[in-house]
Amino acid sequence: MTAGVGLRAIGAASRVYAKLVAESTVVTALSPARPRRHVGYEFDAIVDGIADEAVDVKSFLLRRTENRPLPTWLPGAHIDVTTPSGALRQYSLAGRPDGGAHYRIAVRRILGGSVSEEMHNLSGGEVLRIRGPRNAFPLARARRYFFVAAGIGITPIRAMIERAAEDGAEWSLYYRGRTRESLPFLAELEQLAQRSDSRIIVETDDVDGLASAADIVGYAREGSAMYVCGPAPLSSALRGEAMRQGNVREFHTELFTPAAVVDGMPFTMHLSRSGETVAVGAQETALAALRRTRPDQPYSCRQGFCGACVVGLVAGRVEHRDRVLGDEDRNSSIAICVSRAAADGDVLVLDL
Ligand code: FES
Repeated sequence: MTAGVGLRAIGAASRVYAKLVAESTVVTALSPARPRRHVGYEFDAIVDGIADEAVDVKSFLLRRTENRPLPTWLPGAHIDVTTPSGALRQYSLAGRPDGGAHYRIAVRRILGGSVSEEMHNLSGGEVLRIRGPRNAFPLARARRYFFVAAGIGITPIRAMIERAAEDGAEWSLYYRGRTRESLPFLAELEQLAQRSDSRIIVETDDVDGLASAADIVGYAREGSAMYVCGPAPLSSALRGEAMRQGNVREFHTELFTPAAVVDGMPFTMHLSRSGETVAVGAQETALAALRRTRPDQPYSCRQGFCGACVVGLVAGRVEHRDRVLGDEDRNSSIAICVSRAAADGDVLVLDL
């Protein structure tokens, strides 16, 4: 496959993905804002400012309703936002973690996307329900960074760049989009690059045509820590290319979709309250198996870090694969989106 064909395939897959997320009522229906168990912060926030950042992109400043301080966060963090209509979406926090009384998020309007449309129609003073922040894309300290952002993927990357610049690290950014006018925060980032003697490579479809993953990775200086935020097909093409070229020291990307089950073994769940028995296959999660008969079983991240899917554990040996439960909680709870029975054929008794 040629580089151009490869990038066209990535583009096509990304469009299908965006369309699915935008148009599917299932996305909202399957992510209800009803965590079974409270983990982290949850509060109301007022829309305190709205700005046009680029074509079809608006940013929103959010302030806590009771004027209490906002929970602190680190670059790469995101929040769950429940819109006035009840839809739930995750948005990365942009800007500086020490941004005082406000969070800033940015939303691209997606053609046919009812939730992005609803967000773009918000007015100042409206109230959103916030949960988080959580961080599934943390920034590790490094001497040299190479960031890659595609369009709205700049949101978490911008916070990372602010931190890298503050730490005096060397950084460069490859920033890709349809047109220059479609790239949010570009002017601020160019100013920051000038101040910190760093480099931004901007390439757009209308001027530069298609780029290859090899070209993009080729911009990384030797020994860089590489952070990518963009559509999953782009991220995986860049990961493969980074491994092939060997010029980056580490590779990080934000996971928008849960990873496949690795080393899974079949087991059984017994639901102590209802008396049901649910078989879990080797390649599926306990959550997926449970949702066949209980489609309203709550969840959010499906990656073991938000706590929305946590249920009580009555008996059974668990292989805990989450990052949300403490040691003590693990005796009596399980995050069913990732954790499983410890051995082949085991039975877990859940408080359901
Ligand atoms: S859905 Fe987030 S921890 Fe399971």
